[in-house]
Amino acid sequence: MNPAGRGSVRGRFLPCLAALAWFSTASAAEEDPVERGRALFEGAESAPLSIRMGENILPARGISCAGCHGGDAGGGEEAQSGPPIDWATLSQPSPSRPGYTLASFAAALTEGHRPGGGELGSAMPRFAFERPEDAAALAAYLRVVAARQRTGFTADGIVFRSTTDPVAKPFLRAFEARVTELAPNGVYGRRIRLSPEDAAFASIGAREIGSGEEMPDLFPLAPIIGDENPLDTRGAFASVADQVAALAEGSGEMVILATPAMRARLREALPRSATLHWRKGQAEGEIPILGIGAAHLARALEGTGEAPVYAMADDLAGVAIGSGRCLVVSDPRPVAGMPTEAPATRYGRTAATVLVEALRICGPDCTRSRLMRAFDGVRASPPDWPDLDYAEHPLTGSDEIALWSACMD
Ligand code: HEC
Repeated sequence: MNPAGRGSVRGRFLPCLAALAWFSTASAAEEDPVERGRALFEGAESAPLSIRMGENILPARGISCAGCHGGDAGGGEEAQSGPPIDWATLSQPSPSRPGYTLASFAAALTEGHRPGGGELGSAMPRFAFERPEDAAALAAYLRVVAARQRTGFTADGIVFRSTTDPVAKPFLRAFEARVTELAPNGVYGRRIRLSPEDAAFASIGAREIGSGEEMPDLFPLAPIIGDENPLDTRGAFASVADQVAALAEGSGEMVILATPAMRARLREALPRSATLHWRKGQAEGEIPILGIGAAHLARALEGTGEAPVYAMADDLAGVAIGSGRCLVVSDPRPVAGMPTEAPATRYGRTAATVLVEALRICGPDCTRSRLMRAFDGVRASPPDWPDLDYAEHPLTGSDEIALWSACMD
């Protein structure tokens, strides 16, 4: 492969787009008050919150209890953010108020009354709930949130859910080896352990993002598209959207072969500045054609026209490319010189480096939501890997991409 140039496109933070099926189905949420409470607490689309502003009731767009009080209800970190509101804290009296009951909790949320007298500050919204039982559902979730946020985080270990899929083996092996190197005695005395079935703190190296379970998805083996929510997903190399933008940078117009679902998500995830004109269907003349996913890449290669074919490095493995063909390939894991190890091995090692650092930043009393926030403090320059900075690129740590021109002989 000959390097043809290196492009870098900025990633984009999409706080409100929880596009993954991360919440359980609406019907489950209706049946189970705890799930309904979680959906309300986290601001899920299935449980929209409204705010009272004088006479008006307005949709609470982009705000949630979790956003101000922390995803673990342990209190927010920014100025103006809310205090701890897990039920153990609320039900205890504090110097400024007696302990909350369900009735006084509901009155605080809807009217802003502080139990025992006085009003809550205006930074705490006054809510208008869709259903009368919503305050009780929130309270039900606040009773379990602290324990659920520490699932898999025990006195002596931290369990991460691993897959048994053989494809993940090199990744997992490299991950474990690096963890042993970096944290032989664990982090704050807790050993990092992989398990396919035990109750886990987060999933690691999953073949699919958004298992439907509540735990965060860390370093999935499936590509990150770019519209995932950084509150529950973290990877370590540039997203599909970043790669599409890098490939499009020079050409402006591109025929994109992909599933309709993928095209819809990419449209949302692509930086607005990308001067990309979509075309679907077949290539015409010299407009470059990009196939996303092995099957669509194979279709792109079927065309015999003059059009250059674009591909993402991870799709090349599953496709037969005839000799004499040249492709423009986006590589989301570029390094100086030729790496000596397979991407999965390098990824596993990088994942361990980043995770150990995030767990250290998170501290001895880590929760799932605090871990996700801790990532923002991680900066790393792993060997054989792009530099990572999660404050700058929350979802993936990097948007670095190299474009190669690859010709088959
Ligand atoms: C925009 C930020 C924000 C959002 C959104 C928000 N809160 Fe608050 N909340 C606050 C702040 C700030 C306070 C502290 C107010 C005070 O003490 O004067 C507070 C106080 C509270 C209190 C009183 C705590 C105590 O110790 O008396 C409760 C209970 C509460 N919030 C629950 C919720 C719930 C449940 C939701 C979601 C339905 C929510 N809050 C959404 C900012 C927010």
